[in-house]
Amino acid sequence: MTTTRTLREKAGEEPITMLTAYDAPTAAVVDGAGVDVILVGDSMGNAVLGYDSTLPVTLEEVRSRTGAVARATEDALVVADMPFLSFGVDEAESVENAGRMLKEADADAVKLESGPHTVELTRRLVDIGIPVMAHLGLTPQHVNQLGGYQRQGTDRGAAEELIELAREHEEAGAFSLVLEHVPANLARQVTEALSIPTIGIGAGRHTDGQVLVITDVLGLDDWSPPFSKQFGNVREEMERAVSAYKKEVEAGEFPAEEHSHVEDDVENVY
Ligand code: KIV
Ligand code: NA
Repeated sequence: MTTTRTLREKAGEEPITMLTAYDAPTAAVVDGAGVDVILVGDSMGNAVLGYDSTLPVTLEEVRSRTGAVARATEDALVVADMPFLSFGVDEAESVENAGRMLKEADADAVKLESGPHTVELTRRLVDIGIPVMAHLGLTPQHVNQLGGYQRQGTDRGAAEELIELAREHEEAGAFSLVLEHVPANLARQVTEALSIPTIGIGAGRHTDGQVLVITDVLGLDDWSPPFSKQFGNVREEMERAVSAYKKEVEAGEFPAEEHSHVEDDVENVY
């Protein structure tokens, strides 16, 4: 069983693995493979809900899918991603929304896209018993503010700011930090500066762990970011199966004898 404690122990000894999942069958596969952490990411907006950003994703969508993932997971740590506007507006509401992920969806922890506004919130959540994974670098909920999904921390000032924010979140009690789309040499320095595990995506190899979006890994999307890698081609397999089904129904081959059942007692009822 992965806990926030075993994750800390693993950091620096062995690479930590993390993937997203948004449903029970996918979570069962990810968990069964021994991946350490399953993130029910708000990337579900793009990955499975058909939106073109993460902004429309609701608390209910993440809560419902976190429940599905948690029910199918035995060993991995399940982290629920807090969607846009579900935190950071009002403290009491933020605490309640985060707490519901543990109380109603059986998440083990929450992740917040972090910034100066989440330091005190992180401290408050941790005080209450809600473990927090921080997230710095590219924070996609800021896409409108950033004007796109560019690499972050690319100049000295931004890099210093990021390291300082990372320190503040560690000090506030975050158990881990996601670093998204930052230079590999900055991710290395953040990892050296912190004692909590860093988990990178598009952040090079010098973090304590890696995370990717499951639909990118499986090859379910026709697009994935350049820092990602497709490890399979599930879309092709889905297309094959769906076409085969259609063809067999149209040809009168499915259902065959073995897929249907005749009951003598209902003969000649009409
Ligand atoms: O929503 C998500 O999948 C994420 C990861 C990319 C870290 O936030
Ligand atoms: Na996210």
